[in-house]
Amino acid sequence: MMTFYSSSPEETIEIGRQIASFLRPGKCVLFRGEMGAGKTQLTKGIAGYYGVTDDVVSPTFAIVNEYEGRTPIYHFDLFRIKDIPELYAMGFFDYIGGSGICVIEWSENIPGLESYLEDYCFVDIEKTGDDTRTITLIY
Ligand SMILES: Nc1ncnc2c1ncn2[C@@H]1O[C@H](COP(=O)(O)OP(=O)(O)OP(=O)(O)O)[C@@H](O)[C@H]1O
Ligand SMILES: [Mg+2]
Repeated sequence: MMTFYSSSPEETIEIGRQIASFLRPGKCVLFRGEMGAGKTQLTKGIAGYYGVTDDVVSPTFAIVNEYEGRTPIYHFDLFRIKDIPELYAMGFFDYIGGSGICVIEWSENIPGLESYLEDYCFVDIEKTGDDTRTITLIY
């Protein structure tokens, strides 16, 4: 377990880069944190570490955004997903365990999702103030 403290969106992006250095192809990152916690900011850092140059934006409407880097980054938003059958239907599991890193916003929408994954870590983000965040990597 590793804890990071951020006091700006830029610091959170930098923390994302640090977290990325612990990841490997095939790993899933399960974010847990409320709206506006900074999940997308962290994803910008993770994608940047792997050489993604495209803008990283919330995939809320697309459900998954794919970014090309040294390692492909698959960025999911499960906000609108209700259960495991819906995940299967959207093709979620086709991305898992491949050569990319899966970064998952709103993983808490599917309790027990980790039991369907072999290689994952949690990243918890706690809003401690308007601009401050406590970020915990659990692996
Ligand atoms: N220390 C901080 N770290 C991250 N974001 C911060 C911080 N301080 C302020 N913010 C603001 O909080 C917001 C975080 O937005 P972001 O899209 O990353 O959240 P999110 O967790 O992905 O939300 P959503 O669930 O809506 O997708 C941004 O508007 C950002 O400017
Ligand atoms: Mg987001």
